[in-house]
Amino acid sequence: MTVTSLGIPRRLLEFTLDGQEVRVPEGATILDACRAAGKDIPTLCHGDTLTPKNACRVCVVEVEGSRTLVPACSRRAEAGMEVRTQTERARHSRKVVLELLASSADLSTTPRAAEWIKEYEAKPDRFGPDAARLNEQPRIDNELYVRDYDKCILCYKCVDACGEQWQNTFAISVAGRGFDARIAVEHDAPLTDSACVYCGNCVEVCPTGALSFRSEFEMRRAGTWDESAQTETTTVCAYCGVGCNLTLHVQDNEIVKVTSPHDNPVTHGNLCIKGRFGYQHVQNRG
Ligand code: SF4
Ligand code: SF4
Ligand code: FES
Repeated sequence: MTVTSLGIPRRLLEFTLDGQEVRVPEGATILDACRAAGKDIPTLCHGDTLTPKNACRVCVVEVEGSRTLVPACSRRAEAGMEVRTQTERARHSRKVVLELLASSADLSTTPRAAEWIKEYEAKPDRFGPDAARLNEQPRIDNELYVRDYDKCILCYKCVDACGEQWQNTFAISVAGRGFDARIAVEHDAPLTDSACVYCGNCVEVCPTGALSFRSEFEMRRAGTWDESAQTETTTVCAYCGVGCNLTLHVQDNEIVKVTSPHDNPVTHGNLCIKGRFGYQHVQNRG
């Protein structure tokens, strides 16, 4: 039997996951239980530091007695429930979701997307060349990060990170409706004319690379971005007394981006502009 731990001691619930009895603490989601049991359920809009949005539905599973498929990332486990993750219906639904997403957005920098498309035998091409792509150029209007909305799956994670869930800056929102819906700043202005404070917390949560560090964007464009050659070192930001944790991603002895551990109890992966982007002086060796 698998037992999922969520840190704080809580009452345990027992339910059936793919025919096996599992125990999870009260409050755990079906996804938490799946991950503890080593089951690989695809997720895109789920963020470990954000409230579930239920936007993408790529994580759906079947729950006995439920008329519709349920999103594993947000549905809390209940005692006695029977969950099946690999039924034909659940797998077919994940496949169609992947096809719809991959036909309308460029998933080339979405970690694991290619693997899932293969596993579910998804065929995004069947929607033809008229699929609702934005077909627009990346927006490069500042030195710190790039917005490439051709890669956006409208998962809203950036909006939530910028808004009430973390940054409370509300610089970005969803503009338009239906096929015209897109993430934008007010009046669709350049970022430099917006309320953005360049904390990069939206970049931290973006699952597709639609938002990416300028350094990463330029290196990918030049063909020099190589994650296998990068090291990650977590250290403490020296700019102020809060003591945020910074994870420095280093390639060829240069810092190429800065992230922050999501399990840090103070910052939960969030930083300010200084910690996130203010590292150039470290490598000014001239
Ligand atoms: S960098 Fe920070 S302030 Fe700017 S849009 Fe992203 S989350 Fe909002
Ligand atoms: S820019 Fe990224 S985080 Fe924001 S909605 Fe698009 S895919 Fe999601
Ligand atoms: S990951 Fe569960 S709905 Fe998107």
